[in-house]
Amino acid sequence: MKFGIATKLFIFFFFFILIFYGTVFDLLIKVQDMSRLSARIVSINHQIAALSENLRDNLIDMDANIKKFKVLKKDQYFDYFETARAAYTGDLNRIISLDAGHRGLPEHSASWIDIHKAYADFTLSRPRDALEKMTGPWIEPPVLTRWLEAIAGARKQNDARIEQSLILINSRSRQVMRNALVGFGISVFVGISGILFITRSMLTPLKKLKSGLKHVSDDNYTHKITIDSGDEFGEVAAAFNDMSRQLKADEEIRSDFIATLSHEIRTPLSSIRESVNMITEELLGPVTEKQKKFLNIAGDEIARITGLLNHLLDTSMLPDGEEKPARIPLDPNLLARDAVKRLSATARSNDITMGCTPLENAPKVMADQKEIMQVLMNLLGNALKFSCEKGQVDVRISRGPGKGYLTFHISDTGPGIPREKQDLIFKKYYRAEEVRKHMDGVGLGLSIARRIILAHGGRIFVKNNDDKGSTFSFTLPVQKKE
Ligand SMILES: Nc1ncnc2c1ncn2[C@@H]1O[C@H](COP(=O)(O)OP(=O)(O)OP(=O)(O)O)[C@@H](O)[C@H]1O
Ligand SMILES: [Mg+2]
Repeated sequence: MKFGIATKLFIFFFFFILIFYGTVFDLLIKVQDMSRLSARIVSINHQIAALSENLRDNLIDMDANIKKFKVLKKDQYFDYFETARAAYTGDLNRIISLDAGHRGLPEHSASWIDIHKAYADFTLSRPRDALEKMTGPWIEPPVLTRWLEAIAGARKQNDARIEQSLILINSRSRQVMRNALVGFGISVFVGISGILFITRSMLTPLKKLKSGLKHVSDDNYTHKITIDSGDEFGEVAAAFNDMSRQLKADEEIRSDFIATLSHEIRTPLSSIRESVNMITEELLGPVTEKQKKFLNIAGDEIARITGLLNHLLDTSMLPDGEEKPARIPLDPNLLARDAVKRLSATARSNDITMGCTPLENAPKVMADQKEIMQVLMNLLGNALKFSCEKGQVDVRISRGPGKGYLTFHISDTGPGIPREKQDLIFKKYYRAEEVRKHMDGVGLGLSIARRIILAHGGRIFVKNNDDKGSTFSFTLPVQKKE
């Protein structure tokens, strides 16, 4: 199943929020539970502790007052006894009801109920007149002691229960902390891995799109982007591939048109040249010197246009595919010297000095000899073409960038190239306005050079010289040492 960017984001945030807020909610419930529990312990067990103290005091009061009543026979003491007994009964009942309310706490003790039972039996069987008539003590001293001990025992149990409850709260709070840590850990993990996943799933197609755009801006329309993520990036990639296809088709139509046009012009041009030649060679009758002079001018122009058309035909049909050149190790100094030698006659006729500075101990470059020679010829050809008379053209080789490359520099003393046009000149058919009128060319030399250099894994660029003219540079990978 494939999801769009919005769905991916929704799923990620849904799970992240679910885990994060789930943890917080669970934490809240547990904390609330614990605070209720601790409040109950504090209130119930504290009340029980206070009441049990009263219980003991009342029992002692009862004992003291009944003894006084027996000796002094004053009703007042019997009333005190009754009051203490009522308070005792009330407190005991209250303790039992509080004790029974211990839900969720350790088992409540049966001691209070035992005490209550023993006391109820005792009071029921001893109403006021029975007590008055009694000659001995109202209660046997050992029984009283047992009751007091039972109360003390039950109080101890109550204290123990408070302690147990505190231990329980402590262990619960530790468990809450553990759960919270695990929950937060999971939400941090989900958060980080979600962010990584989403970033990756956006960055990868963006990188591919960027490289695709770079290819298009380098006039390479055969590059295809493959993004099968099924989201919006996939749609953009499909639209991009469509655009490339369209551009490639347009490019083919343009090249075909140029080729057809050149061909159509070349054929009548060659019959014109033939005719002019026949007239010049006086095959059709004598011609005057003046006529010969103009016929020669016409012949030169026809030759120039034919040369231009041939150049256009040769270069416009070059394949622009991505096929890798057959690379072999070549001596860079030899390449440079050979290129300079080939153009030295042209340089001489234009009164331009050519120089070549070899690189000492130069490593071999991995290149296709024919193609690199074409690059050098195009760049040197431009340097000669655009330099004024008495100009200087130099070829230099340097190491770098890095250890894996060498850089060739071709500098001239021509007009240089304005900064804003330095990217344009590598485009197909681009020719600067200043040169269009008075200089031959079709504007393909640099675009061919760039295509070749990129296919070799190098870079080509131009910079203006500090004083005069410009320097074109291109890099080539060097032969790797075994
Ligand atoms: N050395 C240079 N000095 C100044 N401008 C240059 C130089 N080299 C190239 N240019 C500019 O770049 C444009 C494109 O060069 P490119 O070699 O592609 O075409 P061209 O030389 O005009 O024609 P072609 O090479 O197809 O015969 C040139 O028309 C010119 O305006
Ligand atoms: Mg050129």
